Amino acid sequence: MTTFPKDFLWGGAVAAHQLEGAWQAEGKGVSLADVMTAGSNQTPRKITAGVQAGENYPNHTGIDFYHHYKEDIKLFAELGLKCFRTSIAWTRIFPQGDEAKPNEAGLKFYDDLFAELLKYDIQPVVTLSHFEMPYHLVTEYGGWRNRKLIDFFTKFARVVFQRYRQQVKYWMTFNEINNQAQLDDWFLFTNSGLQVQPGEDAAELMYQAGHYELVASALAVQIGHQINPDFQIGGMFAMGPSYPASPDPRDVMKAERTMQANYWFTDVQCKGKYPAWLKQYWNRQNYQLDITLEDEDVLKAGTVDYIGFSYYASHVVQATDAEADDFMTQASDTQVTNPTLQASAWGWLIDPVGLRYALNWFTDRYDLPLFIVENGLGAVDKFAKGQIHDPYRIAYLRDHIQQMALAIAVDGVNLIGYTPWGIIDLVSAGTGEMSKRYGVIYVDKDDQGQGTLKRWKKDSFTWFQHVIATNGQDL
Ligand code: BG6
Repeated sequence: MTTFPKDFLWGGAVAAHQLEGAWQAEGKGVSLADVMTAGSNQTPRKITAGVQAGENYPNHTGIDFYHHYKEDIKLFAELGLKCFRTSIAWTRIFPQGDEAKPNEAGLKFYDDLFAELLKYDIQPVVTLSHFEMPYHLVTEYGGWRNRKLIDFFTKFARVVFQRYRQQVKYWMTFNEINNQAQLDDWFLFTNSGLQVQPGEDAAELMYQAGHYELVASALAVQIGHQINPDFQIGGMFAMGPSYPASPDPRDVMKAERTMQANYWFTDVQCKGKYPAWLKQYWNRQNYQLDITLEDEDVLKAGTVDYIGFSYYASHVVQATDAEADDFMTQASDTQVTNPTLQASAWGWLIDPVGLRYALNWFTDRYDLPLFIVENGLGAVDKFAKGQIHDPYRIAYLRDHIQQMALAIAVDGVNLIGYTPWGIIDLVSAGTGEMSKRYGVIYVDKDDQGQGTLKRWKKDSFTWFQHVIATNGQDL
């Protein structure tokens, strides 16, 4: 008996800004990712005020997928991919974000890219906004704090839905929309183009921006379904389960509230309304959010068709003594280590069973099809004489796929696909490094931007090829 359904979507995932490069080609505008410098595990990436001379911006060149996509897709076909998740760089279509007309050259690039994938029966799976909104929308409008962004985004969505209505079936609106719930400057910027000004309450700003994004997403779902009723339009959430540090009921309540505080975005996109606890919280905080009755109708009418999510690691939280009745102490201040798990070189806890837990958690709560659109191990690979031996990556992927199989076979979860992150090495979103590699395909480029850009197959390539060929039977 096979565990994985016969049309299971084995694939690979990337995002435009992390691999395309060609940051100014054929009219492309400056995106958020174009003003992020290279960083490392120790040194955070900087967000500069515009593109500054003398800084190193790794996304400007990526792995030059823009010019290499044909050879890369050939490798994806050899790997046996059934689908390929990427994003459409908003700035190729609307360079500044607020133009009346789209940039035809940008649209043409994705025509050609999707045609090349379909030539090999590889289905494109497309994210509309993956940390790469036009930078002009930040400087001119303050990012998603501004209601006008809803119109700019839905216009972009309409144009690409219409243009690619025959090539693309699976869409996602906002990548990891819930990252910003952590309230750190980085995620506020990458998710929403927010830069908190002195005297502003970051949380209130995030709730407002998040609301506008949720309305924009719900409108996009409706527009997409009008254009092609067969479209499957999903949300996309960063899933990192939070476990209680102990059986102390206060820790259990802390873990519950942490999950609620991370996944209210999912509640809205899947159930079409805000959860009661959050509305109570806003009232107590006396937040004056711009949420209209009309918005609430839009949210109800624009729920998603499936849940796309990333899964890399889990967390453990412990209630603090200072915890108020609402248990809303910021989760990052309450995280403790998990002595039962090993961490990656970047400190991400490796927890395959947590993936099964997440699959069950989503199913119980929303009962929608699930699509794991990111998962993988960022690691340093050694390149020697054209070979890359990466048993650690194989072990990571194997352990996670085994848990997926259990979730399907034992728990009855409706899992439609799996696209490991960075199937081909690309620029890390968090650190801007090339050396944090996820791919089964190696790209010769280093953190200083040096290298031939030549592609090489890692050991994990052959392994994953066999997994796909046996539909996950032989791991
Ligand atoms: C997810 C993002 O958060 O994790 C990707 O959707 C990102 O864009 C991936 O690359 C891995 O994170 P990092 O920081 O290792 O690149």
